[in-house]
Amino acid sequence: MSCLLHFIFFLLLLLLPLASSYGSGCPTQCGKVKIQYPFGVGSGCSMEASFNITCNTSTAPPKPYLNISDEKIEVVEIRVDNPAYIRIKYPYLLWGVCYHTPSGNMTWTDGSGGISLRDTQYTLSEYNWLIAIGCDDALTASTYKGQGKQTFRDGCIGICFDDHGSSGSCPKNGDGNSGGDGCCRSPIPKGASTLSAGLTDLSKSWKSVRVFPCSYAFLMEKGSPNGSGYSYNYSILKQKSTDFINNDEMVVRLDWRAGNHNCSHTPRNSSFACKANTDCVDFGSEVEGYLCKCSKGYVGNPYVACQDINECDENPCAPHSHCKNLPGSFNCTCSRGYNGDGIRNGTGCTLSPTSNVIKIALIGLGSALGLVVLVLLCLWLHKVFEKRKNKKRKEDLFKQLLLLQHQTSEGTFGNTKLFTAKELEKATDHFNEGRICGRGGQGVVYKGMLSDGTIVAIKKLKEVDENQVEQFINEVVILSQINHKNVVRLLGCCLATEGPQLVYEFLPNGILFEFIHDRKIEFPLTWKMRLKIAADVAGALAYLHFASSIPIYHRDIKSTNILLDEKYVVKVSDFGISKLVQVDQTHLTTLVKGTFGYLDPEYYQTSQYTEKSDVYSFGVVLLELLTGQRPISLERTEVGRNLAAHFLAYMEADNLDAILDTQVSEEAANEDVIAVARLARRCLNVKGKFRPTMKEVATELESLMISQIHSIVDEELEETTISEAKHMMVSDIEYTWTISDHTTSSDAQSLNV
Ligand SMILES: *[C@@H]1O[C@H](CO)[C@@H](O)[C@H](O)[C@H]1NC(C)=O
Ligand SMILES: *[C@@H]1O[C@H](CO)[C@@H](O)[C@H](O)[C@H]1NC(C)=O
Ligand SMILES: *[C@@H]1O[C@H](CO)[C@@H](O)[C@H](O)[C@H]1NC(C)=O
Ligand SMILES: *[C@@H]1O[C@H](CO)[C@@H](O)[C@H](O)[C@H]1NC(C)=O
Ligand SMILES: *[C@@H]1O[C@H](CO)[C@@H](O)[C@H](O)[C@H]1NC(C)=O
Ligand SMILES: *[C@@H]1O[C@H](CO)[C@@H](O)[C@H](O)[C@H]1NC(C)=O
Ligand SMILES: *[C@@H]1O[C@H](CO)[C@@H](O)[C@H](O)[C@H]1NC(C)=O
Ligand SMILES: *[C@@H]1O[C@H](CO)[C@@H](O)[C@H](O)[C@H]1NC(C)=O
Ligand SMILES: *[C@@H]1O[C@H](CO)[C@@H](O)[C@H](O)[C@H]1NC(C)=O
Ligand SMILES: *[C@@H]1O[C@H](CO)[C@@H](O)[C@H](O)[C@H]1NC(C)=O
Repeated sequence: MSCLLHFIFFLLLLLLPLASSYGSGCPTQCGKVKIQYPFGVGSGCSMEASFNITCNTSTAPPKPYLNISDEKIEVVEIRVDNPAYIRIKYPYLLWGVCYHTPSGNMTWTDGSGGISLRDTQYTLSEYNWLIAIGCDDALTASTYKGQGKQTFRDGCIGICFDDHGSSGSCPKNGDGNSGGDGCCRSPIPKGASTLSAGLTDLSKSWKSVRVFPCSYAFLMEKGSPNGSGYSYNYSILKQKSTDFINNDEMVVRLDWRAGNHNCSHTPRNSSFACKANTDCVDFGSEVEGYLCKCSKGYVGNPYVACQDINECDENPCAPHSHCKNLPGSFNCTCSRGYNGDGIRNGTGCTLSPTSNVIKIALIGLGSALGLVVLVLLCLWLHKVFEKRKNKKRKEDLFKQLLLLQHQTSEGTFGNTKLFTAKELEKATDHFNEGRICGRGGQGVVYKGMLSDGTIVAIKKLKEVDENQVEQFINEVVILSQINHKNVVRLLGCCLATEGPQLVYEFLPNGILFEFIHDRKIEFPLTWKMRLKIAADVAGALAYLHFASSIPIYHRDIKSTNILLDEKYVVKVSDFGISKLVQVDQTHLTTLVKGTFGYLDPEYYQTSQYTEKSDVYSFGVVLLELLTGQRPISLERTEVGRNLAAHFLAYMEADNLDAILDTQVSEEAANEDVIAVARLARRCLNVKGKFRPTMKEVATELESLMISQIHSIVDEELEETTISEAKHMMVSDIEYTWTISDHTTSSDAQSLNV
């Protein structure tokens, strides 16, 4: 029965350590002692036999044991790393001796005399004392390191003082190895694998009497530096005793090491003790062998594996920096704009001056760019706005125009067609230079052919400014009001943004100016033609002033604005600066506009344009017809540079014949010429109110025409032949004028003399 119980008990004993084991199946604890690899309990749990621990679980608490030099040693603590050592119970005397007093015969000896750790993975730690207690004794110690090649000898003498009190004491740990009272001690060098200790009785050599018969030598771990030291009862020196040593304080510290070679001579094969993230460290102290340490930044058991430390848990980074854990280290990165290592203990993160400069520079650059962009945008917007405003104004004006069209009772505006820009482009062959048939202050006149074959004159405004558009609209409005055989007919217009265009009937014979002044003209104007032209122009102006629904002042009457059609019928044109005048208005106050030489001096002085200003200009045209001279000519003397003044001077001098065109003086009856000349003089009166109205002028000229009725048949005959001849020329689109015969040319020359 008891046998069976024993068996069960034994089984339990076997199972117990298993029960307390966990992880890979190896126990990590034996009693109070924590067991870590390379130490281990059981098969395959330790790195090698030297670290093979047996855990005796029959005691309470269980106790771990090591086989060191075939001795079973109880282990109190195992340290694997930093530093690596074990603490063992060693309650053994190295040496004990008693002498028989007074003869000094030795009556008792005991102890092993030393420790040998040779061929083990252990050496004595320097954290031990070799202690001798007793009086009159010399302690000698010899230690050997490594494989016993090197010897260190040391020793001390224990002396007792006179009073022989009840107890002896060893010095405190911090006091070095100075002697105590009945005690001396000797240090142990690191790496000592063998220690032999001996005690020698000094009373013999000193020929004195021993105070106490017994002395003892033993090994003991150093206490805390401030510890009270080892003190003992003198009674143990009076007779042999071993009881005193048998207590828990008798602990010795041993260093252990892996392998029997230094790191550099240890192959890195699977037997190599140092695992991941570790460093190999030579054991040192002239002892072969190595230890393992976790690399910097790693933690754990270096003989198993070391794990990375997450340094960021401790937040080693300074403010304004971001912590990033790295294998074995960490990285503090300063926020953008900050400089430094970012580490709390380091330079931390400081606002970087360069980044400030760059920031400021960037901000500066940015704002400068922004400003430029803003200015450009403003300019662009301004331009767009202006363009839109212009367009709007044009549209508004055109709307007005359409409104006017509705208002006009004549409805002539109905004939004014709105052309598209494309149509007119096509008609003028993209405004070909070759199609230009005139240039004026307002723009260029092109000859063009519409898709239906109509030949037209297209006036294209040079540029689109407010003033030009106004004039453009003005002309459209005025011409659409007028339906008179002697006023140029407006066929249509185009409100292209590029430049508004006006489309007129094409008048192949060109302008009156050329007929009067251009000596190349083949057919010089006869007196009758001149009279008819004058009468027609006067009629047209009279119509403008009085007959049209709203009075119109032409404001730019001159020979270049009087066109002739194929039958030499007058067509007054260019109403760009003409004005519609409210009925109750007698004059206009405007900026002085017009053509020098034709300009009413009164208007020039007062800026007030009246219907009589048109009369003055007409007077100048009349003079041109009479004299064939230009309104302004540098060929004349300074006083006579202005044709009006020149003519009036001749008239005053009653020397009219000298200034007349040869053609006129040859053809015209003297009284007719005088009548026209007087009419002209009245028109050119400096005071507007003394000038006749256009109606009077027209009537007078008409009557002059009628007085010539007798020669009408001749005249008509002549006109027909001329017009027929002209017709043939005109049908040739090229519009070439052959140089006229010599007689006309020489006549003209003689006229100028
Ligand atoms: C440790 O000791 C046990 C017996 O207690 C044995 O089975 C085992 O093999 C030993 N381990 C080594 C590494 O020697
Ligand atoms: C365990 O300790 C007990 C008591 O000290 C002892 O009797 C026994 O022999 C020990 N067992 C082993 C395996 O050492
Ligand atoms: C310890 O040493 C003794 C004596 O050599 C031996 O009998 C025993 O098996 C060893 N124990 C271990 C665990 O190695
Ligand atoms: C001491 O030793 C000497 C010689 O060894 C011996 O003669 C003597 O008898 C011893 N004395 C005692 C008291 O034993
Ligand atoms: C140890 O002793 C020293 C000096 O005697 C003293 O400064 C220190 O505070 C002591 N330390 C302890 C833990 O008592
Ligand atoms: C020393 O030991 C003796 C005998 O064992 C004893 O009588 C005495 O009281 C002890 N002295 C001290 C201070 O412990
Ligand atoms: C490792 O190398 C040592 C020394 O060369 C050798 O004794 C040992 O057998 C090797 N171990 C393995 C597992 O290769
Ligand atoms: C090993 O290290 C010890 C201590 O540093 C040194 O004395 C010894 O010469 C080294 N041995 C070899 C083989 O490097
Ligand atoms: C931190 O990381 C950055 C980028 O990986 C590297 O340039 C820098 O050198 C690292 N700093 C430290 C202290 O490791
Ligand atoms: C920073 O300095 C303190 C005190 O000097 C120290 O305790 C701490 O370990 C240091 N930390 C680092 C990351 O160096």
